Amino acid sequence: MHAFLSLFLSLSLFRAAYAATAEEWRGRSIYQIIVDRFALPQGSDTTQCNPGDQTFCGGTWNSIRENLDYVQNMGFTAIWISPVSQNYEGARTPYGDPYHGYWISDASKLNSRFGTSDDLKALSDELHKRGMYLMVDVVVNNVMGLQTDLNNLSSYMFKDPSQYHPYCPIQWGNTTSEQNCWLGDEKVPLPDVNTEDPGVISAYQAWIKELVQTYNIDGLRIDAAKHVQSEFWPKFCGAAGVFCIGEVFGDNIDEVSSYQGPLDSVLNYPMYGALTEAFSLPGQLNTSAITETMEIYKTKFKDPGLLGNFLENQDLPRWANMSVDPQSMYNAMAFNFMSDGIPIVYYGQEQGFHGAADPWNREPLWTSGYTNTTANQIITKLNTLRNFLVNQTSDSSKTDWLHSRAEVLTTDAHGLAIMKGDVVSILTNLGSPPANVSVAVYTPYSNSLMMTDILSCKQFVVGSNGTLSVEYSLGGQAKIIVPSTLLQNSGMCGAEIAAGSTPKGQLASGAPRSSTFSSSLILIAITFVGLLGSSLV
Ligand SMILES: *[C@@H]1O[C@H](CO)[C@@H](O)[C@H](O)[C@H]1NC(C)=O
Ligand SMILES: *[C@@H]1O[C@H](CO)[C@@H](O)[C@H](O)[C@H]1NC(C)=O
Ligand SMILES: *[C@@H]1O[C@H](CO)[C@@H](O)[C@H](O)[C@H]1NC(C)=O
Ligand SMILES: *[C@@H]1O[C@H](CO)[C@@H](O)[C@H](O)[C@H]1NC(C)=O
Ligand SMILES: *[C@@H]1O[C@H](CO)[C@@H](O)[C@H](O)[C@H]1NC(C)=O
Ligand SMILES: *[C@@H]1O[C@H](CO)[C@@H](O)[C@H](O)[C@H]1NC(C)=O
Ligand SMILES: *[C@@H]1O[C@H](CO)[C@@H](O)[C@H](O)[C@H]1NC(C)=O
Ligand SMILES: *[C@@H]1O[C@H](CO)[C@@H](O)[C@H](O)[C@H]1NC(C)=O
Repeated sequence: MHAFLSLFLSLSLFRAAYAATAEEWRGRSIYQIIVDRFALPQGSDTTQCNPGDQTFCGGTWNSIRENLDYVQNMGFTAIWISPVSQNYEGARTPYGDPYHGYWISDASKLNSRFGTSDDLKALSDELHKRGMYLMVDVVVNNVMGLQTDLNNLSSYMFKDPSQYHPYCPIQWGNTTSEQNCWLGDEKVPLPDVNTEDPGVISAYQAWIKELVQTYNIDGLRIDAAKHVQSEFWPKFCGAAGVFCIGEVFGDNIDEVSSYQGPLDSVLNYPMYGALTEAFSLPGQLNTSAITETMEIYKTKFKDPGLLGNFLENQDLPRWANMSVDPQSMYNAMAFNFMSDGIPIVYYGQEQGFHGAADPWNREPLWTSGYTNTTANQIITKLNTLRNFLVNQTSDSSKTDWLHSRAEVLTTDAHGLAIMKGDVVSILTNLGSPPANVSVAVYTPYSNSLMMTDILSCKQFVVGSNGTLSVEYSLGGQAKIIVPSTLLQNSGMCGAEIAAGSTPKGQLASGAPRSSTFSSSLILIAITFVGLLGSSLV
């Protein structure tokens, strides 16, 4: 009995292992972290990190664990951390030191810069205690090594020169070349591991299986996935036994989508490109880039609901570097959370960081003071609604929001409206200045239905012919509108929280009185405009 009890405890509580599948990741929401840059150990000097120096700033797995409240309070249910494997330890290169963790030497060893094996286990355990998942970034395609390192491979996982493809520069557009030639350049060569070699294949499979089991990893983000032949992935991910999402850089939707199949999913670069075309300010204001991409999804991607939706990452300029108007980012972000796919937010996006591409997009987060910014509050609301909708997926009496497909309701020069499940998202690229623009969206909802925008907690009433009308006299804010009754027990916009439930994240506690007040104002406004014979109603 005793033995049984402790076995039960160790299985269920102490090292809760999720080894999560694609289906289990579908409803998650991911916060992406560069380990070196997210948080410092207590007592560190916080003034010494300049991204331009391209060197270590001191973040660790422990300092992530100690600051998980910040992530969980925003409603995220998973983190993705930069690679954990041993990196090149030689002389400083023209591109600095491997503070980012992507310059692998020995994948099978942990990177002691970021902590010990116990520290990584403690991070994993703490995440699982909170009901969160751990995704780890892995680099399989290549190692990093200067010519002198390659003459002596003793500190590498693959010690035999035959386990690497011979050097050749990549000829872009030639698939074989992209897969077998070397990424990097003369300053920082990234020797290409021979992933066709049976010994390499089996060593990688044994390694990933053990890594996932030892640290109870729930999912993998695969670096440079398109630089490895696609036949490699099913067995690698099969050995890992967890969800795999790959980086297939570029907006060639045929190429990107061809990796969903070999891998469970891919990062949604095509939609990233479309979002920049539609929402960047100043920019092309091309909303059809989004609608066309959504249309192409239907035939190309096996499962758009698993795509990793993002606006920023460690390779791209921050959104705010390209588009300084904050409403531009909030609207694009709302799209990522309320359409098909798994939302991913890169650390610092919520703090309005605005660095250019590598290395300026790897700012230290501590300089922000982890402030509760407007972006932070919008993310919290989006996560809270999404988590609430996801949680209802198992309830057969409710709409299965998670498995429903986002559809376009309306597009115009100022933006678009989409609908996924019960949620209507009306998004715009008008930006912050007040605009004398109103938009009428035809929905399947019936006349007089009360609806709530979860971002402002304002109420809307559906007009004749299912019309939902919004105006932008306070600037181009995103609107996420749901039937008000749907928010029951969500804790959002003054709705009660179901007894006994503990919704994650910070709740958007709109005061009921003020939302009633604003709803009557809107009713008056709609009536008034209606009297004038406007097209609003
Ligand atoms: C290779 O490097 C290791 C240290 O990384 C060293 O101990 C060893 O002597 C070197 N071997 C040769 C042949 O230079
Ligand atoms: C493509 O790249 C491979 C590997 O470098 C090379 O052998 C082949 O000749 C290239 N094909 C073309 C059409 O250039
Ligand atoms: C908008 O994007 C679509 C889809 O990518 C493209 O076909 C179209 O040419 C673009 N329009 C403009 C004005 O750039
Ligand atoms: C973009 O980033 C660069 C380098 O970090 C910076 O100098 C520039 O001011 C940024 N632009 C904006 C609009 O933030
Ligand atoms: C952030 O600020 C909002 C609005 O004042 C508040 O509702 C929320 O609780 C705050 N969140 C945190 C984590 O302090
Ligand atoms: C707003 O636009 C309408 C229709 O285009 C126009 O009649 C009205 O005068 C405008 N109002 C203001 C304050 O610019
Ligand atoms: C009613 O809605 C449909 C789209 O659902 C639209 O095509 C039609 O023009 C609308 N009719 C009126 C009178 O607004
Ligand atoms: C999910 O919904 C169930 C039933 O309404 C509730 O008991 C549970 O607390 C909810 N979980 C979360 C994380 O909101």
